[in-house]
Amino acid sequence: MTRLAGIIGHPVAHSLSPVFQEAAFRAHGLDARYEQWDTPNEQLAERVGSLRGPDFLGANVTIPHKEAVFPFLDELGGQSARAGAVNTIVNRDGRLFGFNTDGPGFVAALRNEAHFDPAGHRVLLLGAGGAARGIAFALAESRTETVGIWNRTADRARRLARDVEAAGGEVQAVPGAADIRRWDCVVNCTSVGMHGTGTEAKSPCDPATAAPGTLFVDIVYAPEDTTFLRQAAASGHKTLGGLPMLIYQGALAFELWTGIPAPVDVMFDAARAALKDRQRQELRT
Ligand code: ATR
Repeated sequence: MTRLAGIIGHPVAHSLSPVFQEAAFRAHGLDARYEQWDTPNEQLAERVGSLRGPDFLGANVTIPHKEAVFPFLDELGGQSARAGAVNTIVNRDGRLFGFNTDGPGFVAALRNEAHFDPAGHRVLLLGAGGAARGIAFALAESRTETVGIWNRTADRARRLARDVEAAGGEVQAVPGAADIRRWDCVVNCTSVGMHGTGTEAKSPCDPATAAPGTLFVDIVYAPEDTTFLRQAAASGHKTLGGLPMLIYQGALAFELWTGIPAPVDVMFDAARAALKDRQRQELRT
């Protein structure tokens, strides 16, 4: 029996997950497929319900359903409840478990690709939306000395800081213009710089003002070299792009579905090749 996984969202056509998850299934010789499941709101209950079938491994969940799926699940695992979002559903004998691998995927990317362990360090998040929320909880759980949260809308930063503090994290809302001095790592969790937003030439802060040795991380992966990262590199700082977080959240999902270690290198290669293809196609159109 071919086992199935897929991505539930609306739209999903641009997701890279099918490319690198299929590559991972192939690399392990698994009889499994990863599909695109474009799901408008009114079809969400039915779509999630269908995952209870014996041929389904589970699913990934993306915009706009990461919060809306909660009522259709049987149990919550990992950090999904605290993060207030589910990005991975696992079918275990007809019971559906919700997980959030976004935050843990971010921390794994920091450790494995930037060789930066947040434990005992000060990490500033720019942004306080859904992505920042998952990352903030994962950092707090990884014994980060202080998680700073700056956001254009300051109220949202304060709210997220309160939630992380209530969960036992050391956290600080950063008011006013983002002051990026005195942090070991600065992470762009806003959509600024993302392809298609009209902000591609912008950066959420000026990396030139940071202390030497600061690590700059962008969670935007298209383009891979955002203005934020280019400015940081030009100021002599270390940088990490958004692709590793995408791959590691997918690797953790793969491991939850299959119980076997994810072939991370294969997943990186497949995603990079797909991104290159897309760039070539865009240049042609
Ligand atoms: P996601 O799930 O990707 O985090 P989101 O919840 O919509 O998406 O959050 C988007 C984040 O990008 C928010 O922190 C948002 O700031 P506001 O809360 O002030 O809206 C931030 N953002 C989007 N456009 C921005 C811009 N032009 N300048 C600064 N921050 C921006």
